[in-house]
Amino acid sequence: MAQDMNGKDIISIHELSREEIDQILYTSHVLKMKNKLGELYHPLKGKSLGMIFQKSSTRTRVSFEVGMWQLGGYALFLSANDLQLKRGETIADTARNLSRYLDGIMIRTYNHQDIVDFAEYSSKPVINGLTDLLHPCQVLSDIFTIQEKKQDLKGLKVAYLGDGNNMAHSLMFGGAKMGMEISICSPSGFEPDPEITRLARLDASQTGGKIVIEDDPYRAVQEADIIYTDVWTSMGMEGEEEKRVESFSRYQVNSALLEKAKDNVLVMHCLPAHRGEEITDEVIDGPHSIVFDQAENRLHVQKAIMALII
Ligand code: CP
Ligand code: NVA
Repeated sequence: MAQDMNGKDIISIHELSREEIDQILYTSHVLKMKNKLGELYHPLKGKSLGMIFQKSSTRTRVSFEVGMWQLGGYALFLSANDLQLKRGETIADTARNLSRYLDGIMIRTYNHQDIVDFAEYSSKPVINGLTDLLHPCQVLSDIFTIQEKKQDLKGLKVAYLGDGNNMAHSLMFGGAKMGMEISICSPSGFEPDPEITRLARLDASQTGGKIVIEDDPYRAVQEADIIYTDVWTSMGMEGEEEKRVESFSRYQVNSALLEKAKDNVLVMHCLPAHRGEEITDEVIDGPHSIVFDQAENRLHVQKAIMALII
């Protein structure tokens, strides 16, 4: 039965039911088909989305803005530096004001609690466009991409190599909900947040999924259907870059590592990539890589999210 998601915040995949995720995936498929056929579809005519960015973005900004336009609505880019937030206006007052003008608000920020607080005071749905803790729209798009390539998600193994960061956390939440095995392989000191791990394991216990935390990249990629990586130095961590390059060098996704994986393994990266660090040119531009399909699907999946919640 169709889920009524109107007004729902999309802050963490952990808070979505399996039925809601399936509905997002199905709607993404329908919207992608319409897009490919050149069929116009304007369910959000007259609606507007505010997009608050406290960090840089290429994919998130453009895919939300174009997506809203394709749905018949209007999207506004709001640099957090230019809002009164920067001069001390509270998150609560900003949320109360913006939700009088807008029909939905997408936020990219540092502190995850800021989005949670914003959503509490906003009368309109809030979408997490990345925080230091989570990146749900990316992983919903990634699940859609994996489904396109592999059909059945249940039991698939994803080996994520690198930092136990926002991407690792959302992959754990998304994979657990879909009954997948997510193996997070990070050097000591860079493991995922223990509370996220506990919650993802709780979800996995309901779906037959599995969450593994390990530190040996060669072991992690064995029997993996997908190898996933992300930058070693996320936005906001630039001060640690030198130390991180040193700590993560063993975790590079390169041809030698791919040789240990299944012949039909897929390689994913949320992008932007730091080529030559977490992934080599040879791999990201090679036959196993599906990174640009992933990037394209941000558009279709976020359109589905907006059409369902706004
Ligand atoms: N993957 C992703 O969110 O890309 P941007 O930082 O360019 O938005
Ligand atoms: N972990 C990365 C993801 C970028 C999309 C970051 O937070 O910078």
